[in-house]
Amino acid sequence: MRIDDIVEGLSYSDVLLVPRKSGVDSRKSVNTSTNITKDIKLNVPIVSANMDTVTESRMAIAMAMEGGIGIIHRFMDIEKEAAEVTRVKRAHSYIIDHPYSIGKNATVGEAREIMSKDGVSGLLVVDASRKLLGILSDRDIRFVKDDKTPVSGQMTPRRKLVVGHPDISPDEALKLLDKNRLEKLPLVDKKDVVKGLITSKDIYLSMHSEKPAKDRKGRLLVGAAIGVKGDYIDRARALMRAEADVLVLDIAHGHSNSVIEAIKKLKKEVEGVQVIAGNVATKEAVEDLVAAGADGIKVGIGPGAACITRTVTGAGMPQLTAVMDCAEAADKMGVKTIADGGIKDSGDITKALAAGAAAVMMGSAFAGTDESPGYFVTRKGIKYKSYRGMASFGANISRKRLDKAEIDPQEVFDIVPEGVESSVPYKGSVKETVYQMVGGLRSGMSYAGATDLEQLRKNAKFIRLTFSAAKESYEKLQG
Ligand code: XMP
Repeated sequence: MRIDDIVEGLSYSDVLLVPRKSGVDSRKSVNTSTNITKDIKLNVPIVSANMDTVTESRMAIAMAMEGGIGIIHRFMDIEKEAAEVTRVKRAHSYIIDHPYSIGKNATVGEAREIMSKDGVSGLLVVDASRKLLGILSDRDIRFVKDDKTPVSGQMTPRRKLVVGHPDISPDEALKLLDKNRLEKLPLVDKKDVVKGLITSKDIYLSMHSEKPAKDRKGRLLVGAAIGVKGDYIDRARALMRAEADVLVLDIAHGHSNSVIEAIKKLKKEVEGVQVIAGNVATKEAVEDLVAAGADGIKVGIGPGAACITRTVTGAGMPQLTAVMDCAEAADKMGVKTIADGGIKDSGDITKALAAGAAAVMMGSAFAGTDESPGYFVTRKGIKYKSYRGMASFGANISRKRLDKAEIDPQEVFDIVPEGVESSVPYKGSVKETVYQMVGGLRSGMSYAGATDLEQLRKNAKFIRLTFSAAKESYEKLQG
């Protein structure tokens, strides 16, 4: 190779989208729907990453409810991953799985605190085994002067409550709510243990909402990750039996013979499977994986917040260039791409989609939400949630522990991490995060003069930033 052969690569922060004439009257009139494979349509182009501190069923349910999709990570045994998929497929958007509750010995003061902190107007009153004892609404305690008054004397007791069974259909629930003029319908099993709650507002919204990303049967969409070695075919079959909508190959360097062979085998041996393959960063890789049968391509080598692949290995590709190159090649072959990693702000989403990606995958942006499986950490009174790269030391150890309780010290020595273990600020619900992200995207599309993602890509004109232009763009007053 000669020095002249070295080309330049760009990342999101190296460019801005040039503002274009806009025919968009309101952000709301912008259409953000997209297809990530021929059959999978999302209402918002956002995918939560298949990482063990990001996506299990709770995150996947929340993502699909907001119009995107979550990809369940694969670092659990086959049955558990399939059960996570089933949980999403069974989730009813109108059922609150874990309704706010309070013990029967609690006081009105405690109930007021929970209601105001969590912004709810009612609580289920339960015993230690979560058996339903009553409902306490804010109206029941509005005029109670003494905060020490027990809730048990103020609640509507169980005998006066109408309840439903956990598998109740939306029609049945609506009928019960309507006939009895109810606001809330607790769901209980045969032993009267609380299994959920339906509110008339939620069921109405769910039946009239077009936001959730759903399959043909009206169930939430969900994807699941698999590897390319060992029992991956068994895993794929189990996930398909659980009715996963798409399988995602979770491989750091996806341009390899083993990935190509795995795609061929999956397409041949697992009926009806749709495979998104990756991760890659070049045209040649896209061509090879699509030729092998991939239904979608995931792009990104090293841009992720917890990735140290580039520093450890010296290999990688600036993400904007990778997305543009791969999307161009994928387009020619009639396949979509997902830009995976390195999204820091909503502006980066607009740039990734303008560069040709059909959707973005994000890890760190969602790790701090209520729905991620990570644990809480508090530092100097501020709440954080754990976030780790899947090639980090800790994730490597957890993976080895899945197979055996005792790990050989040599195996520990052999680990060369390509990811870090860290934490990200706690930021509330996925709903709020997606709302902010999609709001930014909608505005970005309007600046680019686009009413849908196809137009965004067509109209997109990037301008490259000088050092001082980048400073002018990103160095802003804090808080
Ligand atoms: P963000 O920036 O959204 O990136 O947090 C999420 C993506 O990062 C990738 N990932 C890794 N890459 N080493 C890497 O080089 C790792 O340990 C690692 N863990 C996750 C992955 O593509 C994810 O979707």
